[in-house]
Amino acid sequence: MKTTRIGILGLGTVGKGVVEALGRQNTVVIDKILVREPYRYNSDLPLTTNVWEIIEDPDIDIVVEVMGGVDPAYEYLSSALHSGKSVVTANKEVVARYGPELMELARQNRQGFLFEASVGGGIPILDALTWHLRATPIHAVEGVVNGTTNFILNQMEQGMEFSAALQRAQALGLAEQNPSADVEGWDSARKLSILAGLAFSSWIHAEKEHVLGITHVKSCHLRRLHEMGFGLRLVARAQRQPSSIGFVVAPTVYPRGHRYLKLAGSQNAIGIFSEAGTTWIEGPGAGGIATASSIIADIQRIRFSIPDREPLFFEDFPAADIDDSYLIFTEDPYQPLPDIPDSLQKGAGYLVSPHALPPETGLVQYRFRIQ
Ligand code: HSE
Repeated sequence: MKTTRIGILGLGTVGKGVVEALGRQNTVVIDKILVREPYRYNSDLPLTTNVWEIIEDPDIDIVVEVMGGVDPAYEYLSSALHSGKSVVTANKEVVARYGPELMELARQNRQGFLFEASVGGGIPILDALTWHLRATPIHAVEGVVNGTTNFILNQMEQGMEFSAALQRAQALGLAEQNPSADVEGWDSARKLSILAGLAFSSWIHAEKEHVLGITHVKSCHLRRLHEMGFGLRLVARAQRQPSSIGFVVAPTVYPRGHRYLKLAGSQNAIGIFSEAGTTWIEGPGAGGIATASSIIADIQRIRFSIPDREPLFFEDFPAADIDDSYLIFTEDPYQPLPDIPDSLQKGAGYLVSPHALPPETGLVQYRFRIQ
């Protein structure tokens, strides 16, 4: 098989992981790497500051995009597909927003557009969802898909305040360049749009009322939940409902021992629920080499397949609320908490949305979904 030549857009944590991992292979050669500031890197690397040297280079077969953000990544990816290159990306923002359009563009140009690394870092979740778990319709897909918030909540349970825990996550390279995407739930929402899109062939554009991050969570709440035998994680869930698809990202309360509460550091866990049963996949959700392994899997998939497919149809679909019961807690940590219902002790529940109640009430509304 001929050597595959690639161009890489971006050389941050994931880009460096790809360079390192490809250094161990000789069937895939890195032709050029797009960076903004070449002086910051090892001069042996084939760096360029001109993206068109990659997109218009006839020798390059695959463009690997690991720069993040919509602008200019979306334009670069569209141009690469138009100029007859396959694309592999880790960019959840672009895929969540433009996935169906770019998949169709790839199909029309008889190229591949693959994005395993955009959800769950090194976990082969999109491959599993697309190919392995389709014997029966999928009811729901759910998971902890953001390592930064997982890490922060872990630290806060041990008494650290939110801002100190966030700084630590940034120092470890887990958080996005702008960490508000992590802590306000949008990173999880983008990943959930991609998961739901593949699970239900319905592309959901997340909206504010269905996305709640962890910025309002206080370590005193976490400590009190802990004393009561519970823990909290930021969970993303999409589920089929009679005439809608429920879509929510929210901090969620779980009884001690639940798999989400055992996830360490930036580990992710994702469950796929169908008549065939529930499949859980857990693994490293972020990090250079872990995410690079998903990118290399996509490169290999393109090398070994001819992307000449039937069109895929994705219907644009509005997100709907998930129907659940409510509990209202006070924001004041010294007020007694209401009893947690017995049914919750057996399952999982969602804690959603101060936005449903006016902030001046000083109340936090917790919404539980009983499994
Ligand atoms: N900021 C993301 C996270 C990186 O914390 O999970 C991986 O997508």
